[in-house]
Amino acid sequence: MVGGQSAPKAAHDSNRFQVPQAPRVLSTNGEIGASRRRVLEHDNCGVTTRNSKEKQHFGDDMARLKKLIAGNWKMNMLHADGAALARDIVEGADSTACDLLLCPPSTLVSWIAETASGSVVSVGAQDCHEAENGAFTGDISASMVRDAGGSHVILGHSERRHGLGETDARVAAKTTAAHGVGLVAIVCIGETESERDAGETLNVLTRQLDGSLPSGDDDGDINGTNTVIAYEPVWAIGTGRTPTLEEVAEAHAHIRAHLEKQVGEAGAGIRYGGSMKPENAGDLLAIENVDGGLIGGASLSADSFLAIAAAATT
Ligand code: PGA
Repeated sequence: MVGGQSAPKAAHDSNRFQVPQAPRVLSTNGEIGASRRRVLEHDNCGVTTRNSKEKQHFGDDMARLKKLIAGNWKMNMLHADGAALARDIVEGADSTACDLLLCPPSTLVSWIAETASGSVVSVGAQDCHEAENGAFTGDISASMVRDAGGSHVILGHSERRHGLGETDARVAAKTTAAHGVGLVAIVCIGETESERDAGETLNVLTRQLDGSLPSGDDDGDINGTNTVIAYEPVWAIGTGRTPTLEEVAEAHAHIRAHLEKQVGEAGAGIRYGGSMKPENAGDLLAIENVDGGLIGGASLSADSFLAIAAAATT
């Protein structure tokens, strides 16, 4: 239900709170491992501290109050360094009041999920294929992410849109696949520098939202429980540059307003990404409609990642 094609969902639509059926995830010997058990017990927005009664009462609004600080490790970390980083973050995480998510390379999802098992830290992947399985050399499916202990998946990151030609339609198909196995889809959108210079930023965001979230028969109940939007200006990623606070506020308010038309009042949470670091996190995270951050470079150090999480808490 996107792009104003049908009436916005009622804020109290009971379907909004339905958690997609988790697949039964078994190890090869048929036992449910600790990290897999945690995924099955986990609610789908990564908020492990709410019980289902609270969730029904406060619904998505409560989920939105809790900020999500997500680390996108990109193509970094071998096992030893990744495990040490995850351990340091898990140990420091208890003092933060926001949700933490680590998205390591797919080779490490299972390892990091084991390390994070039983903690407040969730684990996700950086991409998945839209097909359930098949001849797609080098790809992983949404159910493989889930099977490895992941609860989230980043989709449509600009490094895939612009580096690998990933289209809005492809991102929408992947989002449907992620929802199908109970993963939270983190759908990335954002303008290039030339689009911003041309005054096209808000139009680009509208077009990407309309195209990258499933619609029609594939709608699949987009909501604050199964979908996160990450606003990531392409020109701010890995450059040390960020939009002004006013520009971030304008983009997030626009995304919020458009999401309300697309998926109903509470909608998905909106995270900012692009050169977020401890020095600017407090200001960025204090902006209205900035519900957390997607952190690249600064997530590769436990100290800076936890400092950003601390900024989200205060
Ligand atoms: P950055 O990356 O924090 O290094 O700019 C953000 C991202 O790509 O998600």
